[in-house]
Amino acid sequence: MDRFRIDGGHPLHGTVQINGAKNAALPLLATAILTDETVVLHHLPNLGDIRTMCRLLSHLGAEWRGGETITVRLAGVERAEAPYEIVKTMRASTLVLGPLLARCGRARVSLPGGCAIGARPMGLHLQALERMGGRITIENGYIVAEARRLRGIDYTFETVTVTGTENIMMAATLADGTTTLHNAAREPEIPDLAQCLTTMGAQIHGAGTSDITIQGVTRLRGVEHTIIPDRIVAGTFAIATAMTGGDVTLQSMVPGHIEALLEKLAAAGAKIFPMTDALRVVGPPRLEAVDCTTAPFPGFATDLQAQFMAAMTIANGSSVINETVFENRFMHVGELQRMGANIQVQGSTAVVKGVPRLRGAPVMATDLRASASLVLAGLTAEGSTEIERVYHIDRGYEQIETRLGALGATMTREHGDDGH
Ligand code: UD1
Repeated sequence: MDRFRIDGGHPLHGTVQINGAKNAALPLLATAILTDETVVLHHLPNLGDIRTMCRLLSHLGAEWRGGETITVRLAGVERAEAPYEIVKTMRASTLVLGPLLARCGRARVSLPGGCAIGARPMGLHLQALERMGGRITIENGYIVAEARRLRGIDYTFETVTVTGTENIMMAATLADGTTTLHNAAREPEIPDLAQCLTTMGAQIHGAGTSDITIQGVTRLRGVEHTIIPDRIVAGTFAIATAMTGGDVTLQSMVPGHIEALLEKLAAAGAKIFPMTDALRVVGPPRLEAVDCTTAPFPGFATDLQAQFMAAMTIANGSSVINETVFENRFMHVGELQRMGANIQVQGSTAVVKGVPRLRGAPVMATDLRASASLVLAGLTAEGSTEIERVYHIDRGYEQIETRLGALGATMTREHGDDGH
């Protein structure tokens, strides 16, 4: 397995281009299930999770080609099934459930099983589909769903769920009648998906607010759509710049998508210069400690919590970090402590007392965003940091070592003997 070696202490300088959003691309690829015509997506990121979704589409019977621009066509569904081998490597594979049920009247999708960042159930996806007339059973670890034609419903999500909102929104586009979703997720990936579906002929109003209305149609057509930039990648580069005392311009991104983070970075002493589709961040010699609480959009993204905590480990003063979206999302704490961070966790709260410097150490990547926090810690640490199991990072960050290297970081990938 590959590992990263980082020699810390180099401020980041220069310009970085932000790639298309993984979490927008995954549901957008699933829209190909809703039509027998061609779906063309531009700005597709080159990531492990995207390759997994393409493998799943092939399994369903789709033909696809391309890279940054991908052309997908699912002329006929050969297997309305998402097998365990695929779902276990990527939970978001469950995004095919709603579209498959809507198009084929049946779907067999493996339950995602345990996940490193908490239970992450699918109960709300299933409850909404049942209310739409889906007959759902669990057989041998698989969700088995059937419905001649789904029907529109008025449904309130008990908890804000991003992929839940996407799954039901996609299913509702082909349902009989009108679906109204309350307490829907407002993450920027939702209006992006709605825009693509609307171009395909769907009737959707209110995406980006808590109340979304979808009037079902009988058929969707092909589409050509450009994926929004990745706000989590942009946020990660902004934090890296701020904590290394650097000066970096992020290009092809939407500053409004990471406003909650930018407010925190500004409060911590970074200078923030937002532009229409770019952002310049200038880090101070040392950040000041700032508290933060994660929340669904437009709150502070849980996917940036670990990276922000890495920044706070070397800030001046103490900060309190509350994780309200996922239980057990503090796996990075133990590894940051091995680098000299002073962090105490109680339940879903971490108290971080800033130290002047972290020290390089061998550490282990445990999940996607936790791994990103270790990279950031390594960038500022004294000496050398070795990060094992970097396939977690490759799931969500395109060639992170090349991009950080171009900004002045000393970071190399060492290839493992086993070819992974
Ligand atoms: C998505 C993102 C992920 C991000 C997360 C929260 C994608 C592919 N992934 O994940 O990167 O960290 O949003 O912003 O877009 N819940 C229930 N019942 C359900 C579904 C969810 O209780 O049926 C709970 C979860 O346990 C969690 C909360 O809702 O506590 C939010 O989870 P959710 O928004 O569903 O996360 P994902 O959509 O899986």
